[in-house]
Amino acid sequence: MITLIQQLLMIEKQVNVAVVQGVMISPCYRTLIQQLFVTERFGSSQIDDELLARFEKVTGKPVHHWLRRGIFFSHRDLHQILTHYEQGKPFFLYTGRGPSSDAMHVGHLIPFVITKWLQDVFDVPLVIQLTDDEKYLWRDVKLEDITRLARENAKDIIACGFDMEKTFIFSDFDFIGQCPEFYRNMVRVAKCVTFNQVKGIFGFGDSDPIGKISFPAIQATPSFSSSFPFIFGKANIPCLIPCAIDQDPYFRMTRDVAPKLGYHKPALLHSVFFPALQGARTKMSGSDPNSSISLRDTPKQIKNKVNKHAFSGGQATVEEHREKGGNCDVDISYQYLRFFLEDDAKLEQVHKDYSSGALLTGELKKMLIEVLQPIVTTHQQNRLQVTDEIVQQFMTPRKLKFSYGS
Ligand code: TRP
Repeated sequence: MITLIQQLLMIEKQVNVAVVQGVMISPCYRTLIQQLFVTERFGSSQIDDELLARFEKVTGKPVHHWLRRGIFFSHRDLHQILTHYEQGKPFFLYTGRGPSSDAMHVGHLIPFVITKWLQDVFDVPLVIQLTDDEKYLWRDVKLEDITRLARENAKDIIACGFDMEKTFIFSDFDFIGQCPEFYRNMVRVAKCVTFNQVKGIFGFGDSDPIGKISFPAIQATPSFSSSFPFIFGKANIPCLIPCAIDQDPYFRMTRDVAPKLGYHKPALLHSVFFPALQGARTKMSGSDPNSSISLRDTPKQIKNKVNKHAFSGGQATVEEHREKGGNCDVDISYQYLRFFLEDDAKLEQVHKDYSSGALLTGELKKMLIEVLQPIVTTHQQNRLQVTDEIVQQFMTPRKLKFSYGS
Protein backbone atom coordinates (compact mmCIF):
# COMPACT_ATOMS: atom_id res chain seq x y z
CA MET A 1 0.00 0.00 0.00
CA ILE A 2 1.32 3.41 -0.92
CA THR A 3 0.42 6.03 1.64
CA LEU A 4 -1.17 9.33 0.64
CA ILE A 5 1.96 11.19 1.63
CA GLN A 6 4.05 8.88 -0.59
CA GLN A 7 1.70 9.58 -3.48
CA LEU A 8 1.97 13.29 -2.85
CA LEU A 9 5.75 13.06 -2.79
CA MET A 10 5.70 11.27 -6.12
CA ILE A 11 3.48 13.97 -7.59
CA GLU A 12 5.76 16.64 -6.20
CA LYS A 13 8.66 15.08 -8.03
CA GLN A 14 6.68 14.86 -11.26
CA VAL A 15 5.57 18.45 -10.95
CA ASN A 16 9.08 19.68 -10.48
CA VAL A 17 10.41 17.61 -13.37
CA ALA A 18 7.52 18.78 -15.53
CA VAL A 19 8.14 22.42 -14.64
CA VAL A 20 11.73 22.07 -15.67
CA GLN A 21 10.76 20.42 -18.94
CA GLY A 22 8.24 23.16 -19.63
CA VAL A 23 5.40 20.62 -19.65
CA MET A 24 1.91 21.44 -18.44
CA ILE A 25 0.98 19.21 -15.56
CA SER A 26 -1.95 16.92 -16.24
CA PRO A 27 -4.89 18.81 -14.77
CA CYS A 28 -6.37 15.73 -13.10
CA TYR A 29 -3.62 16.20 -10.52
CA ARG A 30 -4.61 19.79 -10.09
CA THR A 31 -6.65 19.52 -6.93
CA LEU A 32 -4.16 17.19 -5.32
CA ILE A 33 -1.30 19.47 -6.26
CA GLN A 34 -3.06 22.48 -4.79
CA GLN A 35 -3.57 20.69 -1.54
CA LEU A 36 -0.01 19.49 -1.65
CA PHE A 37 1.39 22.97 -1.96
CA VAL A 38 -0.62 24.36 0.89
CA THR A 39 0.48 21.62 3.23
CA GLU A 40 3.14 22.11 5.81
CA ARG A 41 5.65 20.32 3.68
CA PHE A 42 5.92 23.33 1.41
CA GLY A 43 5.12 25.86 4.07
CA SER A 44 2.78 27.92 1.93
CA SER A 45 -0.52 29.08 3.38
CA GLN A 46 -4.06 29.02 2.14
CA ILE A 47 -5.59 32.38 1.28
CA ASP A 48 -8.41 32.45 3.80
CA ASP A 49 -11.24 34.84 4.66
CA GLU A 50 -9.24 36.41 7.44
CA LEU A 51 -6.42 37.34 5.08
CA LEU A 52 -8.87 38.72 2.51
CA ALA A 53 -10.60 40.82 5.18
CA ARG A 54 -7.27 42.16 6.33
CA PHE A 55 -6.31 42.91 2.74
CA GLU A 56 -9.46 45.00 2.29
CA LYS A 57 -8.97 46.77 5.59
CA VAL A 58 -5.36 47.69 4.89
CA THR A 59 -5.88 48.79 1.29
CA GLY A 60 -9.39 50.21 1.67
CA LYS A 61 -10.35 48.45 -1.58
CA PRO A 62 -12.38 45.33 -2.36
CA VAL A 63 -10.19 42.35 -3.25
CA HIS A 64 -9.97 41.11 -6.83
CA HIS A 65 -12.52 38.41 -7.68
CA TRP A 66 -9.67 35.95 -8.42
CA LEU A 67 -8.63 36.22 -4.79
CA ARG A 68 -12.19 35.83 -3.57
CA ARG A 69 -12.78 32.79 -5.80
CA GLY A 70 -9.65 30.90 -4.87
CA ILE A 71 -8.04 31.29 -8.30
CA PHE A 72 -5.14 32.78 -6.36
CA PHE A 73 -5.39 30.27 -3.56
CA SER A 74 -2.10 30.19 -1.69
CA HIS A 75 0.58 32.59 -0.50
CA ARG A 76 3.80 33.03 1.38
CA ASP A 77 4.29 36.01 3.70
CA LEU A 78 1.46 38.12 2.28
CA HIS A 79 0.64 39.18 5.84
CA GLN A 80 4.14 40.56 6.13
CA ILE A 81 3.74 42.58 2.93
CA LEU A 82 0.48 44.01 4.27
CA THR A 83 2.14 44.93 7.56
CA HIS A 84 4.92 46.58 5.62
CA TYR A 85 2.43 48.55 3.57
CA GLU A 86 0.47 49.53 6.69
CA GLN A 87 3.65 50.96 8.16
CA GLY A 88 4.23 53.00 5.04
CA LYS A 89 7.32 51.00 4.06
CA PRO A 90 8.06 50.29 0.39
CA PHE A 91 7.92 46.98 -1.44
CA PHE A 92 7.91 46.02 -5.11
CA LEU A 93 6.26 43.52 -7.43
CA TYR A 94 8.06 40.98 -9.62
CA THR A 95 6.62 38.59 -12.17
CA GLY A 96 7.72 37.07 -15.45
CA ARG A 97 7.13 35.00 -18.51
CA GLY A 98 9.08 32.52 -20.60
CA PRO A 99 8.39 33.76 -24.14
CA SER A 100 7.76 30.39 -25.74
CA SER A 101 5.22 31.31 -28.37
CA ASP A 102 3.88 34.29 -30.19
CA ALA A 103 0.26 33.28 -29.72
CA MET A 104 -0.31 33.86 -26.05
CA HIS A 105 -3.68 32.67 -24.80
CA VAL A 106 -6.07 34.14 -22.29
CA GLY A 107 -4.66 31.99 -19.48
CA HIS A 108 -1.20 33.51 -19.93
CA LEU A 109 -2.57 36.88 -18.93
CA ILE A 110 -3.69 35.78 -15.47
CA PRO A 111 -0.50 36.65 -13.55
CA PHE A 112 -0.24 39.94 -15.43
CA VAL A 113 -3.84 40.98 -14.83
CA ILE A 114 -3.53 40.38 -11.10
CA THR A 115 -0.13 42.10 -11.05
CA LYS A 116 -1.56 45.16 -12.78
CA TRP A 117 -4.37 45.20 -10.23
CA LEU A 118 -1.86 44.94 -7.35
CA GLN A 119 0.21 47.72 -8.87
CA ASP A 120 -2.85 49.97 -8.97
CA VAL A 121 -3.90 49.09 -5.41
CA PHE A 122 -0.48 49.56 -3.81
CA ASP A 123 1.16 52.05 -6.20
CA VAL A 124 4.50 50.22 -6.26
CA PRO A 125 7.26 49.53 -8.79
CA LEU A 126 7.10 46.37 -10.87
CA VAL A 127 9.80 44.40 -12.67
CA ILE A 128 8.86 41.85 -15.34
CA GLN A 129 11.43 39.26 -16.38
CA LEU A 130 11.19 37.75 -19.88
CA THR A 131 13.23 34.57 -19.64
CA ASP A 132 14.21 34.22 -23.28
CA ASP A 133 17.33 32.41 -22.05
CA GLU A 134 15.18 29.83 -20.22
CA LYS A 135 13.22 29.04 -23.37
CA TYR A 136 16.41 28.86 -25.42
CA LEU A 137 17.85 26.33 -22.97
CA TRP A 138 14.71 24.22 -22.70
CA ARG A 139 13.22 24.34 -26.18
CA ASP A 140 14.41 23.51 -29.64
CA VAL A 141 14.44 27.11 -30.85
CA LYS A 142 16.86 29.53 -32.46
CA LEU A 143 18.25 32.25 -30.25
CA GLU A 144 17.25 34.97 -32.73
CA ASP A 145 13.63 33.79 -32.85
CA ILE A 146 13.33 33.82 -29.08
CA THR A 147 14.57 37.41 -28.93
CA ARG A 148 11.80 38.43 -31.30
CA LEU A 149 9.18 36.50 -29.30
CA ALA A 150 10.21 38.30 -26.12
CA ARG A 151 9.34 41.65 -27.76
CA GLU A 152 6.06 40.33 -29.16
CA ASN A 153 5.09 38.98 -25.74
CA ALA A 154 6.08 42.30 -24.16
CA LYS A 155 3.42 43.95 -26.33
CA ASP A 156 0.73 41.64 -24.97
CA ILE A 157 1.93 42.29 -21.44
CA ILE A 158 1.98 46.07 -21.89
CA ALA A 159 -1.54 45.86 -23.37
CA CYS A 160 -2.72 44.79 -19.89
CA GLY A 161 -2.38 48.46 -18.97
CA PHE A 162 0.86 48.73 -17.00
CA ASP A 163 2.03 52.22 -16.11
CA MET A 164 5.32 52.98 -17.82
CA GLU A 165 6.46 55.19 -14.96
CA LYS A 166 6.16 52.28 -12.54
CA THR A 167 7.17 49.30 -14.69
CA PHE A 168 10.45 47.89 -16.00
CA ILE A 169 10.29 44.96 -18.43
CA PHE A 170 13.51 43.19 -19.35
CA SER A 171 14.72 40.34 -21.51
CA ASP A 172 17.47 38.33 -19.83
CA PHE A 173 19.57 38.27 -23.01
CA ASP A 174 19.38 42.03 -23.49
CA PHE A 175 19.54 43.27 -19.93
CA ILE A 176 21.77 41.13 -17.76
CA GLY A 177 24.98 41.97 -19.64
CA GLN A 178 24.34 45.67 -19.03
CA CYS A 179 23.87 45.42 -15.30
CA PRO A 180 26.83 44.29 -13.16
CA GLU A 181 24.74 44.45 -9.97
CA PHE A 182 22.27 41.94 -11.40
CA TYR A 183 25.07 39.62 -12.46
CA ARG A 184 26.75 39.87 -9.06
CA ASN A 185 23.53 38.83 -7.34
CA MET A 186 23.13 35.95 -9.79
CA VAL A 187 26.54 34.61 -8.91
CA ARG A 188 25.90 35.18 -5.20
CA VAL A 189 22.78 33.00 -5.50
CA ALA A 190 24.63 30.45 -7.62
CA LYS A 191 27.28 30.12 -4.90
CA CYS A 192 24.66 29.34 -2.25
CA VAL A 193 22.88 26.49 -4.04
CA THR A 194 24.51 23.10 -4.61
CA PHE A 195 23.97 20.77 -7.56
CA ASN A 196 22.47 18.32 -5.13
CA GLN A 197 19.87 20.88 -4.04
CA VAL A 198 18.74 21.81 -7.57
CA LYS A 199 18.65 18.12 -8.44
CA GLY A 200 16.30 17.62 -5.52
CA ILE A 201 14.12 20.60 -6.40
CA PHE A 202 14.00 20.37 -10.19
CA GLY A 203 15.01 16.81 -11.00
CA PHE A 204 18.05 17.70 -13.14
CA GLY A 205 20.13 14.76 -14.29
CA ASP A 206 23.66 14.09 -15.48
CA SER A 207 22.83 14.70 -19.12
CA ASP A 208 21.13 18.07 -18.66
CA PRO A 209 23.03 21.03 -20.12
CA ILE A 210 24.81 22.97 -17.39
CA GLY A 211 22.87 26.09 -18.46
CA LYS A 212 19.70 24.56 -17.06
CA ILE A 213 21.40 23.79 -13.78
CA SER A 214 22.38 27.40 -13.22
CA PHE A 215 19.17 28.91 -14.60
CA PRO A 216 17.29 28.95 -11.25
CA ALA A 217 19.77 31.61 -10.07
CA ILE A 218 18.67 33.80 -12.98
CA GLN A 219 14.99 33.57 -12.06
CA ALA A 220 15.78 34.14 -8.38
CA THR A 221 17.78 37.34 -8.86
CA PRO A 222 14.98 39.81 -9.72
CA SER A 223 13.54 39.10 -6.24
CA PHE A 224 16.27 41.31 -4.78
CA SER A 225 15.96 45.07 -5.13
CA SER A 226 19.73 45.57 -5.34
CA SER A 227 19.62 43.82 -8.74
CA PHE A 228 18.05 47.02 -10.14
CA PRO A 229 20.19 49.90 -8.82
CA PHE A 230 18.70 52.38 -11.33
CA ILE A 231 15.27 51.85 -9.68
CA PHE A 232 16.10 51.20 -6.04
CA GLY A 233 19.55 52.67 -5.50
CA LYS A 234 21.11 50.72 -2.67
CA ALA A 235 17.84 50.21 -0.80
CA ASN A 236 17.01 46.66 0.37
CA ILE A 237 13.27 46.30 -0.24
CA PRO A 238 11.08 43.17 -0.08
CA CYS A 239 9.15 41.95 -3.10
CA LEU A 240 5.88 40.17 -3.79
CA ILE A 241 5.71 37.70 -6.67
CA PRO A 242 2.36 36.79 -8.23
CA CYS A 243 2.79 33.57 -10.24
CA ALA A 244 1.23 30.24 -11.12
CA ILE A 245 1.91 27.52 -8.57
CA ASP A 246 4.33 25.69 -10.90
CA GLN A 247 6.87 28.50 -10.36
CA ASP A 248 7.00 27.91 -6.61
CA PRO A 249 10.08 25.62 -6.69
CA TYR A 250 12.19 28.51 -8.00
CA PHE A 251 11.09 30.73 -5.17
CA ARG A 252 11.36 28.14 -2.44
CA MET A 253 14.98 28.01 -3.48
CA THR A 254 15.16 31.83 -3.52
CA ARG A 255 13.65 32.08 -0.04
CA ASP A 256 16.26 29.63 1.28
CA VAL A 257 19.07 31.71 -0.14
CA ALA A 258 17.82 35.24 0.64
CA PRO A 259 18.76 35.43 4.35
CA LYS A 260 22.26 34.15 3.59
CA LEU A 261 22.74 37.17 1.35
CA GLY A 262 21.15 39.62 3.79
CA TYR A 263 18.10 40.08 1.55
CA HIS A 264 14.36 39.77 2.22
CA LYS A 265 12.67 36.50 1.35
CA PRO A 266 10.28 37.18 -1.54
CA ALA A 267 6.58 36.94 -0.66
CA LEU A 268 4.40 34.94 -3.06
CA LEU A 269 0.88 34.79 -4.37
CA HIS A 270 0.08 31.50 -6.17
CA SER A 271 -2.60 30.85 -8.76
CA VAL A 272 -4.09 27.57 -9.92
CA PHE A 273 -3.48 26.42 -13.50
CA PHE A 274 -5.75 27.62 -16.23
CA PRO A 275 -7.66 24.62 -17.66
CA ALA A 276 -7.58 23.57 -21.32
CA LEU A 277 -10.79 23.88 -23.34
CA GLN A 278 -10.97 20.10 -23.59
CA GLY A 279 -11.31 19.89 -19.86
CA ALA A 280 -9.67 18.84 -16.70
CA ARG A 281 -8.30 15.55 -18.03
CA THR A 282 -6.30 16.96 -20.91
CA LYS A 283 -3.11 18.91 -21.28
CA MET A 284 -3.07 22.44 -22.58
CA SER A 285 -0.71 22.36 -25.51
CA GLY A 286 0.93 25.32 -27.16
CA SER A 287 0.93 23.49 -30.46
CA ASP A 288 -2.80 22.74 -30.42
CA PRO A 289 -4.64 25.99 -31.17
CA ASN A 290 -7.92 24.37 -30.16
CA SER A 291 -6.83 23.75 -26.60
CA SER A 292 -7.25 27.36 -25.59
CA ILE A 293 -8.55 30.81 -26.57
CA SER A 294 -5.73 32.70 -28.23
CA LEU A 295 -5.32 36.44 -27.80
CA ARG A 296 -5.25 36.56 -31.62
CA ASP A 297 -8.64 34.82 -32.09
CA THR A 298 -11.42 36.64 -33.91
CA PRO A 299 -14.91 36.76 -32.35
CA LYS A 300 -15.93 34.04 -34.80
CA GLN A 301 -13.02 31.78 -33.86
CA ILE A 302 -13.85 32.23 -30.19
CA LYS A 303 -17.44 31.24 -30.87
CA ASN A 304 -16.43 28.16 -32.84
CA LYS A 305 -13.81 27.04 -30.35
CA VAL A 306 -16.12 27.30 -27.38
CA ASN A 307 -18.99 25.61 -29.19
CA LYS A 308 -16.88 22.80 -30.62
CA HIS A 309 -14.21 22.20 -28.00
CA ALA A 310 -15.25 23.44 -24.55
CA PHE A 311 -15.72 20.30 -22.49
CA SER A 312 -19.29 20.06 -21.24
CA GLY A 313 -20.50 18.91 -17.86
CA GLY A 314 -24.03 18.72 -19.24
CA GLN A 315 -26.10 15.61 -19.90
CA ALA A 316 -26.42 13.79 -23.21
CA THR A 317 -29.96 14.89 -24.00
CA VAL A 318 -32.04 17.95 -23.13
CA GLU A 319 -34.52 15.78 -21.23
CA GLU A 320 -31.78 14.19 -19.17
CA HIS A 321 -30.16 17.57 -18.56
CA ARG A 322 -33.42 19.12 -17.35
CA GLU A 323 -33.87 16.18 -15.03
CA LYS A 324 -30.36 15.71 -13.61
CA GLY A 325 -28.70 19.08 -14.23
CA GLY A 326 -25.10 19.79 -15.30
CA ASN A 327 -21.84 19.40 -13.42
CA CYS A 328 -20.17 22.81 -12.98
CA ASP A 329 -17.01 21.26 -11.52
CA VAL A 330 -15.98 19.71 -14.82
CA ASP A 331 -17.78 22.04 -17.23
CA ILE A 332 -15.14 24.21 -18.88
CA SER A 333 -17.53 26.98 -19.88
CA TYR A 334 -18.51 27.39 -16.25
CA GLN A 335 -14.88 27.14 -15.14
CA TYR A 336 -13.85 29.86 -17.61
CA LEU A 337 -16.71 32.07 -16.37
CA ARG A 338 -15.21 31.78 -12.88
CA PHE A 339 -12.17 33.50 -14.32
CA PHE A 340 -13.77 36.01 -16.63
CA LEU A 341 -17.26 36.85 -15.34
CA GLU A 342 -16.66 39.42 -12.64
CA ASP A 343 -20.21 39.73 -11.36
CA ASP A 344 -20.51 37.41 -8.33
CA ALA A 345 -24.31 37.44 -8.29
CA LYS A 346 -24.52 36.48 -11.97
CA LEU A 347 -21.98 33.71 -11.55
CA GLU A 348 -23.87 32.28 -8.62
CA GLN A 349 -27.08 32.31 -10.62
CA VAL A 350 -25.35 30.47 -13.48
CA HIS A 351 -24.10 27.86 -11.02
CA LYS A 352 -27.56 27.38 -9.62
CA ASP A 353 -29.32 27.23 -12.98
CA TYR A 354 -26.79 24.93 -14.64
CA SER A 355 -26.72 22.55 -11.69
CA SER A 356 -30.51 22.37 -11.60
CA GLY A 357 -30.81 21.84 -15.34
CA ALA A 358 -32.66 25.12 -15.96
CA LEU A 359 -29.69 26.36 -18.01
CA LEU A 360 -28.63 24.25 -21.00
CA THR A 361 -25.06 23.72 -22.20
CA GLY A 362 -25.68 25.71 -25.38
CA GLU A 363 -26.94 28.65 -23.32
CA LEU A 364 -23.99 28.46 -20.97
CA LYS A 365 -21.57 28.41 -23.89
CA LYS A 366 -23.29 31.43 -25.38
CA MET A 367 -22.75 33.31 -22.14
CA LEU A 368 -19.06 32.44 -22.12
CA ILE A 369 -18.68 33.48 -25.75
CA GLU A 370 -20.28 36.84 -24.98
CA VAL A 371 -17.96 37.36 -22.04
CA LEU A 372 -14.78 36.34 -23.88
CA GLN A 373 -15.30 38.17 -27.17
CA PRO A 374 -15.10 41.73 -25.80
CA ILE A 375 -12.18 40.82 -23.51
CA VAL A 376 -10.12 39.52 -26.42
CA THR A 377 -11.19 42.30 -28.81
CA THR A 378 -10.33 44.98 -26.26
CA HIS A 379 -6.98 43.33 -25.67
CA GLN A 380 -6.28 43.36 -29.42
CA GLN A 381 -7.19 47.05 -29.64
CA ASN A 382 -4.95 47.88 -26.69
CA ARG A 383 -2.12 45.87 -28.22
CA LEU A 384 -2.37 47.81 -31.47
CA GLN A 385 -1.56 50.97 -29.53
CA VAL A 386 1.68 49.43 -28.25
CA THR A 387 4.33 50.52 -30.74
CA ASP A 388 7.92 49.26 -30.94
CA GLU A 389 8.99 52.58 -29.38
CA ILE A 390 6.73 52.02 -26.39
CA VAL A 391 8.16 48.51 -25.94
CA GLN A 392 11.64 49.99 -26.14
CA GLN A 393 10.80 52.56 -23.46
CA PHE A 394 9.41 49.93 -21.08
CA MET A 395 12.54 47.84 -21.65
CA THR A 396 15.06 50.62 -21.05
CA PRO A 397 16.77 50.48 -17.65
CA ARG A 398 15.79 53.74 -15.98
CA LYS A 399 14.64 55.35 -12.78
CA LEU A 400 10.92 54.89 -12.16
CA LYS A 401 8.69 57.43 -10.44
CA PHE A 402 9.72 56.24 -6.96
CA SER A 403 12.56 57.46 -4.77
CA TYR A 404 14.38 55.59 -2.06
CA GLY A 405 16.82 56.86 0.49
CA SER A 406 19.75 54.44 0.51
N1 TRP B 1 9.79 30.58 -15.61
C1 TRP B 1 8.65 31.36 -15.99
C2 TRP B 1 7.97 30.75 -17.22
O1 TRP B 1 8.42 29.81 -17.79
C3 TRP B 1 9.01 32.79 -16.27
C4 TRP B 1 9.31 33.61 -15.05
C5 TRP B 1 10.50 34.21 -14.74
C6 TRP B 1 8.41 33.94 -14.00
N2 TRP B 1 10.42 34.89 -13.58
C7 TRP B 1 9.15 34.75 -13.09
C8 TRP B 1 7.06 33.65 -13.75
C9 TRP B 1 8.55 35.25 -11.93
C10 TRP B 1 6.49 34.16 -12.58
C11 TRP B 1 7.22 34.95 -11.69
O2 TRP B 1 6.96 31.25 -17.66
